[in-house]
Amino acid sequence: MSNDWQPIAGADELAVGQMKAFELEGRRLLLVNAEGRLHVIDEMCSHEDYSLALGCIKGSKIKCSLHGSYFDLNTGEALDEPADEPICTYPVKVEDGQVWTRLERG
Ligand code: FES
Repeated sequence: MSNDWQPIAGADELAVGQMKAFELEGRRLLLVNAEGRLHVIDEMCSHEDYSLALGCIKGSKIKCSLHGSYFDLNTGEALDEPADEPICTYPVKVEDGQVWTRLERG
């Protein structure tokens, strides 16, 4: 697993409320613009194998559209049942017109 920062999107690519699923070193991740703040999280819900890219952003949370669990975008914490395991969050920075992340737990 690389700890190096890697470019994943253009700095202006996502408008507020948009998401972009992508793969990095075989991992399925999701870049989210929530209220103007960028987050990188695991794409798949921790409850079942379902993409959070199909969910919706509510404030600083993301809702899984399959069974309705919310996850905190800052910590990855599962806030509602049925999900009871967190998802991983990853560091994000914007530099040189790009959004960067690295596969170290944020
Ligand atoms: S698959 Fe996400 S809450 Fe069940």
